[in-house]
Amino acid sequence: MMVILMLSEKMTEALNGQANRELYSSYLYLSMSAYFESLGLRGFANWMRVQAGEELVHGMKMYDYVISAGGRGRMQAIEAPQFVWASPVEAFQAVYNHERVVTGLIKALVGVAISEKDKTTENFLQWYLDEQVEEEESSDMVLNKAKTVGSDPRALAAADKELGQRRFKFPSGFDMFPYGRQPEGTTIGSLKK
Ligand SMILES: [Fe+2]
Ligand SMILES: [Fe+2]
Repeated sequence: MMVILMLSEKMTEALNGQANRELYSSYLYLSMSAYFESLGLRGFANWMRVQAGEELVHGMKMYDYVISAGGRGRMQAIEAPQFVWASPVEAFQAVYNHERVVTGLIKALVGVAISEKDKTTENFLQWYLDEQVEEEESSDMVLNKAKTVGSDPRALAAADKELGQRRFKFPSGFDMFPYGRQPEGTTIGSLKK
């Protein structure tokens, strides 16, 4: 099937760059998940693992958009994330800070779409802007939870149990493997206890 190229070179490069940042986000949260695993906090690890899955989807959704618009996906090196944090609060603070930075990156990307007079991409990016509102809210909520827990072991265990309830869900209309059916019940982020 012939696909007409709708993206300018500059727009393609900017979208590929953001897809890379989304995969970096996934890597960062997976690193945090591993950190919580090392502390024996599996519920916290689960929350971060689901978060990592969502970022992977953000990256793939952007990759798919580039392809569908006739562009060429370009994979660059993914930056190595931080390995250790001083405390759960510090890790969740880093999540919140990171999400704020990403919101800025998405807004800058919208700026590129506007300057390239690319209305289709501008519309596509609206999903990411909405997503960032949710991401900032949920990371702020979980940061506040970690702050109130502090170092109280009972409160920590209760929070760990609660964060262990988070489940991964693909966004509606998104197919991670669009070129063939996957086995039933395939999920990302299903952590067996
Ligand atoms: Fe993201
Ligand atoms: Fe995010």
